[in-house]
Amino acid sequence: MEKTVDPSRTLTVGEVARRSGVPVSTVHFYESKGLIASTRNSGNQRRFDSVVLRYIAIIKVAQRTGIPLDEIRDALRGLPAGSKPNAQQWQAMSRRWKDSLNERIEQLTRLRDELMHCIGCGCLSMNECPLRNPADILGQQGPGPQILERKLETGVAS
Ligand code: FES
Repeated sequence: MEKTVDPSRTLTVGEVARRSGVPVSTVHFYESKGLIASTRNSGNQRRFDSVVLRYIAIIKVAQRTGIPLDEIRDALRGLPAGSKPNAQQWQAMSRRWKDSLNERIEQLTRLRDELMHCIGCGCLSMNECPLRNPADILGQQGPGPQILERKLETGVAS
């Protein structure tokens, strides 16, 4: 993340942690993942532009809604370097994330509804149970949790 920093608005990692409410280790983690960036002062000490406080607030909100870090990073990279996101930019980001969130809500709602059949059942029926995966046949459909990740329009896996 390339950026221009006003030296009068720079913060130490401790100041960023205190003001943003996240541990220092989290600030370092966000930086290592390319979500925020720092510069070095003349004494080779890490300094952050105060705009990272807004970025961290956005990251925390996005994480609470389950947005993956790589999606957050991509959205933040779309912002002009070193600038505080304005209302329009925030709306654009939140609109994009809303679609992702709605997709996950659909998946989880479907999974919840399917698991309702299993609670207190225990049959693990090959024909009825959404948890059943005899001989790993779902593995032939691709990697990952096939039941969880299938789209509504593809129908129900057996
Ligand atoms: S355990 Fe019976 S439907 Fe899942």
